Amino acid sequence: MTASEDMYMLYRGLMLPKETHSLESLQFAQELAFKDEDVVSVTYPKSGTVWMQEILPLVLNGGDLTPIQTTPNWDRVPWLEEKRLAVVVDQMTSPRALVTHFPYNLMPPSFHTSKAKVIYVMRNPKDIVVSSYYFHQMAVFLEDPGTFDEFMGKFLEGRVLFGKWTDHVKSWKHTELGDRIMYITYEEMVQDLPAALRRISDFLGSNLSEETIQKIAEHCSFNTMKENGMSNFSLVNKLYMDFDKSPFLRKGVAGDWKNHFSSEQLARFTSVISKELEGERFSLPWSLD
Ligand code: A3P
Repeated sequence: MTASEDMYMLYRGLMLPKETHSLESLQFAQELAFKDEDVVSVTYPKSGTVWMQEILPLVLNGGDLTPIQTTPNWDRVPWLEEKRLAVVVDQMTSPRALVTHFPYNLMPPSFHTSKAKVIYVMRNPKDIVVSSYYFHQMAVFLEDPGTFDEFMGKFLEGRVLFGKWTDHVKSWKHTELGDRIMYITYEEMVQDLPAALRRISDFLGSNLSEETIQKIAEHCSFNTMKENGMSNFSLVNKLYMDFDKSPFLRKGVAGDWKNHFSSEQLARFTSVISKELEGERFSLPWSLD
């Protein structure tokens, strides 16, 4: 068995880490009974998932800090596809918030028949590949990423967790969800978090006061989350995440790719991604070059 076979499983063509996923957890996700009040934040990995695990409970409960002060992010807003969901699902109160990295075609049947709402968070793929590179160095349950150049090659070929970024985006841009789905970018959230929170609150019908928006923004800022033991993964054993290699909440900015890409890498990255999105009806919110 190679290191990668040992660490990853293949599920409907997607590479998933065995540490957090199993055939049982994936079956459980497929059988989950979605409720109309459920809210799911969908992300390609490293696009702001943990950020949404901080934001959603507060927007849904009117800014009560209890969930982010008492419950680890993975139990507070569990991943639909991961093992923890089965452990915590019965304790979740409505409206429930979930996160998922699933592409649209893997969403379970009851999701489609429910009125559950979706917030799709999109991040510039150049920053995703950088964030993911550091994450692979610190997450002991993931394969060593090799050099940045090697890792970029794998990313562009889709030989990474949850497959190609372009396939993920395309799948969620072509849905029949109508006004059940809202799109937001990581960059928009970095640039003006209160404005992003107002959009999320309006979409979810939360009707939050400006004071509450400001309070939530403060508690969901990068620096506050970095200090929050319920959100910064400091509860995780060093055997799973090595914080000497990189913190999970690493930089929290837009544009760190500029510190990592050579001009050749930029040209290659732009060419592959642009080609894969050729002819698509949607355009990206950022320029790729
Ligand atoms: P960086 O590695 O670029 O810092 P995910 O949760 O999907 O794995 O995404 C992780 C990325 O989101 C990391 O990016 C992390 O720092 C960033 N992030 C998490 N919370 C954030 C916040 N409050 N503000 C800005 N970025 C945040």
